[in-house]
Amino acid sequence: MRVDKLLANMGYGSRKEVKKLLKDGGLQVNGEVIKDGKNHVHPEKDTVMLNGERVEYREYIYLLMNKPPGVISATEDQQDETVIDLLQLEDQIFSPFPVGRLDKDTEGFLLITNDGQLSHQLLSPKRHVPKTYFAVIEGEVTQEDVEAFKRGVTLDDGYHTKPGELTILKAGLTSDIELKITEGKFHQVKRMFESVGKRVVYLKRLSMGPLQLDEDLELGEYRELTEEEVTLLKEYRPS
Ligand code: URA
Repeated sequence: MRVDKLLANMGYGSRKEVKKLLKDGGLQVNGEVIKDGKNHVHPEKDTVMLNGERVEYREYIYLLMNKPPGVISATEDQQDETVIDLLQLEDQIFSPFPVGRLDKDTEGFLLITNDGQLSHQLLSPKRHVPKTYFAVIEGEVTQEDVEAFKRGVTLDDGYHTKPGELTILKAGLTSDIELKITEGKFHQVKRMFESVGKRVVYLKRLSMGPLQLDEDLELGEYRELTEEEVTLLKEYRPS
């Protein structure tokens, strides 16, 4: 790969800016100063240093965030802060995006990557990747709701959902529940509860496919997935 392309891809600036970086003599490949961007490097084999710092080339980034409320799961927004704004610049340069959407007020498990193929696999309606949510519901969630969710419920637009696995953790004036669903319709959890006359007052995603929210992550914090976790995700085939 051409060295100017490598640096531009890694977010070190436009081709023009990279040209200047090179001209200033800041780039060394295997200890040798390289000023001409046409030179080729092997990103995995060569030691590339820019202004004394190692440039580690890789194509993909996989992040797990504990999404805080009040933040939009999109790459850009005119008014609100996005989950991408919460990332360090060194991660933003990979141009990652959130895999699917959580509502502004929803918290919890959010995968952020630039791997379009993996994102597509996880979101494809054909795959039925399960997602688990914890929610607080206004009103008493009942066994009838559990049975209704098991059969699938009809949303406000007439769509009949796939079965959802509803577990009541605490029932009362407000109820704590867990819900496992295999689809990702717009506001799905909230609309499923609306269909049985109840309102979600707090929502947090706990898991997606084989991965769970890392409870060590505070709201707004994130970490890279381990190689094992990435493999688990890529090889995941819902039963
Ligand atoms: N269902 C919802 O209603 N909201 C979310 O953010 C996720 C699932």
